[in-house]
Amino acid sequence: MDREELLKNIAELKKNKNAVILAHSYQDEDIRTAADFVGDSLELSKKAAGTDADIIVFCGVDFMAESAKILSPDKKVLLPSREAACPMAGMADAEGLKELKKKHPGAVVITYINSPAEVKAESDCICTSSNAVSIVEHYKDKKIIFAPDKNLGAYCQALTGADMVIWNGWCYVHDEFSPGDIFIAKHEHPNCILLVHPEAPADVLEQADFIGSTTQIIKFVEENIEEMNEDAGVIIGTEVEIAKMLMHRYPHKRIYPLADHAVCLQMKKTTLENLYSSLLNEQFEINVPEEIRIKAAAALNKMLELS
Ligand code: 13P
Ligand code: SF4
Repeated sequence: MDREELLKNIAELKKNKNAVILAHSYQDEDIRTAADFVGDSLELSKKAAGTDADIIVFCGVDFMAESAKILSPDKKVLLPSREAACPMAGMADAEGLKELKKKHPGAVVITYINSPAEVKAESDCICTSSNAVSIVEHYKDKKIIFAPDKNLGAYCQALTGADMVIWNGWCYVHDEFSPGDIFIAKHEHPNCILLVHPEAPADVLEQADFIGSTTQIIKFVEENIEEMNEDAGVIIGTEVEIAKMLMHRYPHKRIYPLADHAVCLQMKKTTLENLYSSLLNEQFEINVPEEIRIKAAAALNKMLELS
């Protein structure tokens, strides 16, 4: 099947099965075209919690589909590729977190949504990159255990002054950004401001003009790019898909990725072919054991309540 046939068949299957396709904004253009909604982790969680579809097909990575199942247990949740697993989420484990909780009794556990269900179940509140600072701020009178992203944790600590114990996990896509990348990008694209995702390391974040989640970066560009004069522009410090999408949307503007190496291979495992098979064969179904789901849902709902 060619692209158009795949898109047509996906749309038909989706309608016949009362399915909704949710896609993270790091998905490529084909998947974004097939999707009903494209957004960042927080927006997608809200959509998953509120949908009246019978099937949610999650074009993203494992923890996102798992979060959808936790929030919408009566829906069938499908992940088109079994290999779409976020390596940072795999760096956190429930046993390690339990040990840390024993060492710091009374600490509040804030866990990044990029984590397995078992780790969420050991947490008091979940956060995403768009609300992490305000959630840490909310709990900052207590000691905080923050897992698994060390960069996002350090960023929240620097902004709030909270007393935090931070897990040593990272995203290989954002942690790879370096001051060297900024030096080269600013040299090649003078007069451009730098927008960076908070999963990047501190020595990159400290040079950023704006720090935000994928949707916050997109919104910043939408709100400011038309007013920028022709000498000015933006350098996008997150997964390259965001810069590609914005360059396509504003071809007359100066928009550049911070570095071409920022590709999330796991996000790119979803294709129109496996999305079609996923809907056709209702694979691969994501399930979470009920006792874990109930605890993880409490932490996720706490985040939604505070967002
Ligand atoms: P967002 O919260 O910006 O969607 O980020 C999720 C993610 O996996 C970034 O690497
Ligand atoms: Fe995980 Fe990083 Fe990919 Fe986001 S970009 S899904 S944090 S590996």
